[in-house]
Order: sequence, then C-alpha cells, then structure tokens
Amino acid sequence: MASPSARPALAAVGSPVPAHVAIIMDGNGRWASARGLPRAAGHRAGRDAVRRTVEAARELGVDVLTLYAFSTENWRRPSDEVGALLALLHEAVLAEAEELHRSGIQLRVCGALDGLAPETRAELDRVVALTSGGAALILNIAFNYGSRAELARAARLLAADVAAGARTPESIDEAAVAARLYTAGLPDPDLLIRTGREQRLSNFLLWQCAYAELVFLDVLWPDFGRDHLVAAIATYQQRQRRFGAAPGG
Ligand code: IPE
Ligand code: IPE
Ligand code: MG
Repeated sequence: MASPSARPALAAVGSPVPAHVAIIMDGNGRWASARGLPRAAGHRAGRDAVRRTVEAARELGVDVLTLYAFSTENWRRPSDEVGALLALLHEAVLAEAEELHRSGIQLRVCGALDGLAPETRAELDRVVALTSGGAALILNIAFNYGSRAELARAARLLAADVAAGARTPESIDEAAVAARLYTAGLPDPDLLIRTGREQRLSNFLLWQCAYAELVFLDVLWPDFGRDHLVAAIATYQQRQRRFGAAPGG
C-alpha cells in the first residue's frame, strides 16, 4: 500500500508512464564500504531496493521492468563476491516465488543461464513457469547478461539458419536480429535508469536502448525506492522523444 508521504509524488505521475523501464542497479559496494561493511552486505541491502522497486513499478502501471543484476563482466570480481551474488539470486527467487505469483508478476530472465548452478537454473525455470500467466508486470532479470555476447549469439543463430539453407543473408533485417535477442517479444526500453553516479551503459541493452531516454541518478542502489522511480518517470515525461524526426514532426 502507498505510504502517505508517497501519495503527492504519485499524483505528479501523469500519462504516459513508460511501458518498459530498465535499471542498471549500481552502487551496492560503495553503499556497504561507506558503512564499513563487506560488499556482500550492500548486495543484500540491494535486494530490499529490488522489492520496493518491483512493487512501485507495478503500482505505477509500468508493463516491463528489466533489472541488470549481474553482467558477463562481473565474473571478474573476487570469487567470494561472485559467490554471494549467485547465492543471493537463488535465495531471492526461492523466497519471492509465491509473492510474485500472487501479485500477478511474470518473471523472466535474460542472459546466459548456462553459467549458473543446475539447482539455480531449475529454480528459475520453475518460477518462470509458475508465474508465466502474470499480467500485472513482467519482471525481467538480466543475469549473466552482456549486450555484446547477446548480439554475437544472435549472429550465430542467424548464421546457422543460413548455413542450413533456412534463410538467405539478404533476409536478415532488424526484426530478424531483434527476434534472436533475449528480449525477443518485449518492447524496447523507453526509460533507462542508472543509479550509483556512473554515467555509462556497461554493456547493457545496447541494441534495445537505441532510443531509450537515459536518466542517471545520484543515489546508491540500496537507497533506491519508490520516490526515485517516480522522480525518474517525471523526468522522462518532460523529455521530447523524436526518434529522428524533426521537432514537433
Ligand atoms: C551493483 O553494485 C551490483 C552489481 C554490479 C552486481 P556494485 O557492486 O557494482 O557497487 P559499486 O559500483 O562497486 O559501488
Ligand atoms: C553494471 O555495474 C552491472 C550491473 C549493475 C549488474 P558495474 O558496477 O559492473 O559496472 P562498471 O564496472 O562500473 O562499468
Ligand atoms: Mg558498480
């Protein structure tokens, strides 16, 4: 339920609410370091921010929420931190499954899931199937996701079709590429939010964000909540999207 303090902010959100919001959830490590805590504590606190954000996105009428949880480059971190992140994913999916299902939230995952433990993959598959009828919000978790790896995979799939004689090189158009991305079937993000003060994409949805509005926030991910999402949507609503057309055209 909306807290009284959040109501005025909600009233500021008019139409149109972005159909697809993607978030680069950054700043967990710095949040923990500032408190003298291990980085894993920042990731655990980040899980509460995820819960708040999913709930707020659903209430505000967002259709798809994509969250960048672990990149293909995050394997470069110390093994104890990687282990903590993998364990957190498993725990979160296990713990939240029933609530997601009850709230009509459809879980999806995008990324190379072969990097995960078989138990985690099985759990993800179970919850994706359990929640597949959810119509309130699509929650798309980008895990072991990298845009370049995703595009290389799409190229391999298309090349295999050509090699098998199933299509010609000339038939490969933008729609054919998009259909082979992990996000096939989803609309492109309208709004991309990055927390944690950095202003870069870090290999996230490079194809899909061709015309996304970018909002960089001076907040560390564990401190993110409903008011930040509302503020980012309000910023989005002030932008004029042109998609290459002339102003006002
Ligand atoms: C984001 O927080 C979470 C992941 C990348 C998995 P970070 O762990 O990158 O936090 P900072 O950027 O070091 O503060
Ligand atoms: C991006 O954050 C990846 C995720 C949020 C999962 P990083 O912290 O890994 O990005 P860089 O290394 O600062 O670019
Ligand atoms: Mg970071």
